Amino acid sequence: MAEPFRILTLNNISAKGLERLPRDRYEVASSIVQPDAVLVRSADMHKAEIPGSVLAVARAGAGTNNIPVAALTARGIPVFNAPGANANAVKELVIASLFLSARNIGPAWLFARAQSGDDAAIDAAVEKGKKNFVGFELPGRTLGVVGLGAIGVEVANTALALGMKVLGYDPQITVQRAWELSSNVQQALSLDDLFARSDIVTVHVPLNDGTRNLVNAARIALMRKGSVVLNFARGGIVDAAAVTAALDSGHLHGYVCDFPSNALKDHPKVVTLPHLGASTGEAEENCAVMAAEQLRDFLENGNIRNSVNYPEAVMPRMPGTTRLVIANSNVPNMVGQISTQLAASRVNIADLLNKSRGEVAYTVIDADGSIDADTFAAVRAISGVLSARLIAG
Ligand SMILES: NC(=O)c1ccc[n+]([C@@H]2O[C@H](COP(=O)([O-])OP(=O)(O)OC[C@H]3O[C@@H](n4cnc5c(N)ncnc54)[C@H](O)[C@@H]3O)[C@@H](O)[C@H]2O)c1
Repeated sequence: MAEPFRILTLNNISAKGLERLPRDRYEVASSIVQPDAVLVRSADMHKAEIPGSVLAVARAGAGTNNIPVAALTARGIPVFNAPGANANAVKELVIASLFLSARNIGPAWLFARAQSGDDAAIDAAVEKGKKNFVGFELPGRTLGVVGLGAIGVEVANTALALGMKVLGYDPQITVQRAWELSSNVQQALSLDDLFARSDIVTVHVPLNDGTRNLVNAARIALMRKGSVVLNFARGGIVDAAAVTAALDSGHLHGYVCDFPSNALKDHPKVVTLPHLGASTGEAEENCAVMAAEQLRDFLENGNIRNSVNYPEAVMPRMPGTTRLVIANSNVPNMVGQISTQLAASRVNIADLLNKSRGEVAYTVIDADGSIDADTFAAVRAISGVLSARLIAG
């Protein structure tokens, strides 16, 4: 029987995820020499030495800031993540925040907690004070969703089910997300158009140079008086000073976000949560399951799904073949050299897939019968091959 794959875990990984790596084929431990792969959540891998035996790194989460991706790419090592695995968790908190802001739940709760005296005194204070927390209902209001990725699509579809009108804006929406998005979501023509027509704007875009301060004073000014901004993406996407100024002037009704700061956490019209968007047991499990399944498909079949540095490359296995997988530099004639080498060794290619992404490419070859060690070594030695592996049929 083949040797089990050795998986090094750098954090506690949910048991549901580890169940996807069956014991008879996988040895999984937090200290392991010469691991075939690393499963990680938030542990910082930048300073750690990554052994030469490692074939892949999988992150049970979305971001990969804690992983030296560029160095691994150069070594021909794919890094996997779990995009969208926490989308439902974030969506639920965003939907909760619609109600939080519409019904002034944060300040109303603080008011109730601040009451003292006997119950009669509390009753009297409540009846007198509740007028300060009169809210609004969601049906008929317009929600503007910026970014229609895994989270934005779920938020948009759920808001429709609550009776809201929904506007969406995402110039780079993927075909997959476009299929998932309800046809009742209207397309905003531009960001400014979305802000001008929304009662509540929620952002679901990555933080980068193009999205930093996407919600700024000029766009807030386009919103109707009494509007709300929700931010469960990243703090820097919303200009906090512009938001607090608009809250103070009464132009904005509220701001709910997942990113407390000194300027925001005590503001009476702001509710800040401690980065809770993805903090559910289910999200953690979903991430671990996705990461483990992708890792398994790569180790056992050489397939690549949801890698942040190598292209998507999935080819079904064929009986009676040996699979050769190669990570290589994206330069001319790599496939030519590899197939010439195989032909010289009288190896017949039954199927072949070659995908590129930026400066690297990935080649999957199913060869009839077997490939001997000398042929494999010759392929491995071709200039531009970053890593190569034979997978028995
Ligand atoms: N609060 C939390 O705990 C938490 C949890 C998970 C994710 N997030 C944040 O949510 C963001 C979205 O997550 P996701 O899983 O939906 O990501 P995703 O990659 O599936 O979707 C992001 C979408 O934003 C779009 N986009 C990028 N720039 C844009 C722009 N300038 N205008 C409009 N659309 C733009 C992209 O085309 C893409 O469709 C993440 O980048 C992350 O920062 C926060």
